[in-house]
Amino acid sequence: MCGIVGYTGNEQAAPILLDGLKRLEYRGYDSAGLAVRDGGALAEVVKATGKLQHLADKTDQGRALPGMCGIGHTRWATHGGPSMVNAHPHVSGNCSGSGSGTVESDVVGVHNGIIENFSELKEKLLRHGYVFYSDTDTEVVVKLVDYYYKKYKIGPVDAITRTMVRVRGSYALALMFKDYPNEIFAARKDSPLIIGTAENASFLASDVPAILKYTRSVYYIDNLQVARVSPGSVKFYDLNGDEVTLPLTEITWDAAAAEKSGYEHFMLKEIHEQPAAVRDTLNSIIKDGDIVLTETGLTDEVIRSLSQIDIVACGSAWHVGMAAQYVIEDLAKLPVRVELASEFRYRSAPMPENTLVIVISQSGETADSLAALRVAKERGALTLAVVNVIGSTIAREADHVLYTLAGPEIAVATTKAYSAQLAAMDALAVRMALARGQISREEYGHLIEELGTIPDKIRRILEDKERLQWFSSKIANAHDIFFIGRGLDYAISLEGSLKMKEISYIHSEAYAAGELKHGTISLIERGTLVVGVLTQSGLYEKTVSNMMECKSRGAYLMGVTTNGNFDVEDSVNFAVYVPRTDEHFVSSLAVVPLQLLGYYTSVSRGLDVDKPRNLAKSVTVE
Ligand code: M6R
Repeated sequence: MCGIVGYTGNEQAAPILLDGLKRLEYRGYDSAGLAVRDGGALAEVVKATGKLQHLADKTDQGRALPGMCGIGHTRWATHGGPSMVNAHPHVSGNCSGSGSGTVESDVVGVHNGIIENFSELKEKLLRHGYVFYSDTDTEVVVKLVDYYYKKYKIGPVDAITRTMVRVRGSYALALMFKDYPNEIFAARKDSPLIIGTAENASFLASDVPAILKYTRSVYYIDNLQVARVSPGSVKFYDLNGDEVTLPLTEITWDAAAAEKSGYEHFMLKEIHEQPAAVRDTLNSIIKDGDIVLTETGLTDEVIRSLSQIDIVACGSAWHVGMAAQYVIEDLAKLPVRVELASEFRYRSAPMPENTLVIVISQSGETADSLAALRVAKERGALTLAVVNVIGSTIAREADHVLYTLAGPEIAVATTKAYSAQLAAMDALAVRMALARGQISREEYGHLIEELGTIPDKIRRILEDKERLQWFSSKIANAHDIFFIGRGLDYAISLEGSLKMKEISYIHSEAYAAGELKHGTISLIERGTLVVGVLTQSGLYEKTVSNMMECKSRGAYLMGVTTNGNFDVEDSVNFAVYVPRTDEHFVSSLAVVPLQLLGYYTSVSRGLDVDKPRNLAKSVTVE
């Protein structure tokens, strides 16, 4: 969580930093700050609480902060509540009460991550006369760097590596030193950080969209490395202070993909980008009518040798795993366990030989998923990452990677990345079914053809979104919503419910439809909205019965089903139809109306759809 940016070059830094922060605001938005140097010893620090716009207004869109080297931060509070004094940047020396103003500190820094042993380090620094103004762990790191810098009279790189050896936890750090007016020093462990270079300028950011407008040439700084960033050039060092060489990567994402392009919100734009996200992802896997997984290391021989699959992920990515479980088990007849990444590491569930652990993650930086990946590797499992962000930590650490091609996703609530993950997992299931001899070549060809129809079917659903907009405005004052379904429909209900609650703040739950009567049905009262997902023909009648049980207790019903099931209107108050397709893949379609329902409900309630309260896009803390 938190977004950090840095710039050093021959242009004014503050407007560039603000622009970068704007694109990282999805990572945290309770406060923000900038520190800019104008060639001299002084740094000008400005902070503001609340949305980034407050910081932009306070600095006259950056114009009031002259200087060509600077760092910036947008915060998602961990240590210390959201306040001026806890906002970054933090300084090594003394500062005013709020931490804003002109400072002559030796070190000024911003940080993303959590320093676990910060209390112990703070004690040490207090004993050495340091004064603390904030409750943050970041201020401790900045002061610790300063302490080593002065005590040993060593350069910034060595002061930083000494600090890295001393701290426990995760960090992406960007630091400016008084004695090095045009340079930024950076370090990273388990929090994302990229460094971009252009002619006479260098950039630093937590994520690609922040710098895409300025450069596509980026370095992915590795764990426990330090970078010395100067205008147009960058040097990397390992923990011993020895220089190391990193490859320069060209980003292929289109800069326009990180803009709203006329849509009111990123979420709506990303919902509309789903046909392309699914198509591009499938096209990267399906070549000449064949699902080719060679690049993922999953040869047919490996697939045949597998005894079990464990899918590990968080949030919506976990929901993708839940859906994939039904598809893989049904098509490939291979046992699948789906685990929440945050729990996986605390279980010692036996992992039979030849287990494949699939970690699904949009960002590739989710701390719990990364930790689970490391545990899986320690236990000797073969690991596959299904990841959207190229070069992210999970992608780099897994044995093999299957990239989804959703492009940059900015809205905190995932939509297109979810759909791309689902498509990738479905394609994986189909190949596994063929490799394990569970389907004929003919069935294989048919399933691939069906997969190919998904993008256009999603597009057709999007053409009919006005009905959902109207219905959402009717339910915008709901207190509780229940999403129910069986089998794959249950997996989709989980996602529908999360989309609703995370952006509309309406309490919602997803239940396996058959479970309701074991307790939850007592919550149903007059007017409670129950959304039934009814795409699996074999389960349709059973779920409709469960919905009727709710209706007879006063519930108001919405049903999402496939075209042709028009009799649903005898039971529900509002019906939505999605095109027919092979039932293994229909979840890719059924989820779209549920995304729109969440989106329009949030809009009707006048909420900040793209940046819901208390959340951040990439959860890099455990
Ligand atoms: O980047 P990841 O896919 O690993 O993120 C996992 C979850 O944090 C994410 O899906 C989250 O649940 C979204 N806010 C859901 O919309």
